[in-house]
Amino acid sequence: MRMTININGVEHDVPTDPRVSLLDMLREDLHLSGTKKGCDQGACGACTVLADGERILSCMALAVQYAGRSITTIEGLEMDGALHPLQQSFIEHDGFQCGYCTPGQICSALGMTSELLRGVPSQVTADLSSALISMTRDEVCERMSGNLCRCGAYNGIVAAILDAHREPAP
Ligand code: FES
Repeated sequence: MRMTININGVEHDVPTDPRVSLLDMLREDLHLSGTKKGCDQGACGACTVLADGERILSCMALAVQYAGRSITTIEGLEMDGALHPLQQSFIEHDGFQCGYCTPGQICSALGMTSELLRGVPSQVTADLSSALISMTRDEVCERMSGNLCRCGAYNGIVAAILDAHREPAP
């Protein structure tokens, strides 16, 4: 039976070696080098991708675990040549310096946003019973704390995320 993973809308065969991580499949087999290898041990967040919309660390995932699932990487975010609004916001707010952590930051921020919309609380959520959690600076800082930036571009990163997801004025 053929086992595939849908990556950015395209079906790809699962590697024959079951020890291959999802990160190595993306980078080495498919040459999708946007997803970065930082620590390769689940500590930095550089390898974050979306699996059916949820953020995961691809260095800690075996590719075979994701057979039949849909993976979105940074390469899959643009639409018809236009940057995703969050990518654009990172540019406008200087949300990077060297850029190495940026794909993981952006994928993580998208996964974090869907967690907020689903009412998943964090350590700093005041009302744990609320189904509506606002995207405050504290929530963003807490929820993005697994994505490290060695350049220290955190102020720009938080500003980019907040601006991209700000509520439209009434
Ligand atoms: Fe996966 Fe650092 S490379 S968390």
